[in-house]
Amino acid sequence: MIGNQWYAIAPEKLIPPGRMSGLKRLGKDLLIFQTVDGKWGCLEDLCSHRGVKLSAGKLMEDGCVQCPFHGLRFSTIGKCTQIPANGKSSVVDDRYNVRSYAIQVKHGIIYVFYGDKNLATAEVPFFSEFLNDDFVYSEIADTWDTHYSRAIENQLDVVHLPFVHHNTIGRGNKTLVHGPKTLVIEDTIITSSDNEVDQGQRQRKPQECEINPDMQLRFKYPNIWINIIAKKVKVFVYFAPIDDEKVILYLRFYNQITPFRWLNKVIGYFGKYANLMIERQDKRVVNTQRPKRTQLRMGEKLIQGDQPIVMYRKRREELIEAAKGSQPWNL
Ligand code: FES
Ligand SMILES: [Fe+2]
Repeated sequence: MIGNQWYAIAPEKLIPPGRMSGLKRLGKDLLIFQTVDGKWGCLEDLCSHRGVKLSAGKLMEDGCVQCPFHGLRFSTIGKCTQIPANGKSSVVDDRYNVRSYAIQVKHGIIYVFYGDKNLATAEVPFFSEFLNDDFVYSEIADTWDTHYSRAIENQLDVVHLPFVHHNTIGRGNKTLVHGPKTLVIEDTIITSSDNEVDQGQRQRKPQECEINPDMQLRFKYPNIWINIIAKKVKVFVYFAPIDDEKVILYLRFYNQITPFRWLNKVIGYFGKYANLMIERQDKRVVNTQRPKRTQLRMGEKLIQGDQPIVMYRKRREELIEAAKGSQPWNL
């Protein structure tokens, strides 16, 4: 995991007001809840008293979570507000507080800050420049048995298209991979495929290629990706790490193909299944990659077409390095 980053970890609709849920994400057991008046909390799912999972408890009317064992209550920021056995007149000491994490909910996504809360910025990563309110989207989730770095690299890989997707998006046997041109602009990687049928022509170098303005892939650290397929159709994915061996891909199919939102919703409904079918072709192969987690120097024998993956690994390593020394999951 890269420290000091906002990770997109789950869809907002998973937790309506007045509900809570225990989720394993970022290698941690988290309790996420939303009070009836819309305040969000993200706590370590572990009671400070005697280790019960708070997610087995209840969300109370006062907006606090009550442990099912001896009734200790905790607020959205993890403050212990009540120890019933000590009586109403007792003062609750801060040492009973549980660990809490910075949380933000935007764009229909729950984001949690992995790192030092004091460094949490106001802005969560998203592609607002491509996804405005005129779009409708439908979302589907799928769990992969791999580290999220492998799943992300797969989405930046233009070499696999004619093999993994030979009968879908990679039809046409375009096995010759020019470039691809890849740009890293701050925390965004931009690339686009420039593949051709191999008739013996020379493979072009990345610097001889261009980013296609109308069809491109973008990735933003730490875990969101977009495929700009056309002006009116985009595919967006967030890769929510469960731990170092599992990741959930949340795939959204965005469109504004017709002027009618209801019709676009119908298109979206089918679009998401088409998406899922393509993504399953990837999953079958990517789940077999070893090791599961990637690194910049890991002994793989890379080829020119892997340039976006190299760029991803390089920047990832820089960000990991930059976050070193600051305490992840600081209180
Ligand atoms: S274990 Fe939670 S209140 Fe005792
Ligand atoms: Fe793919």
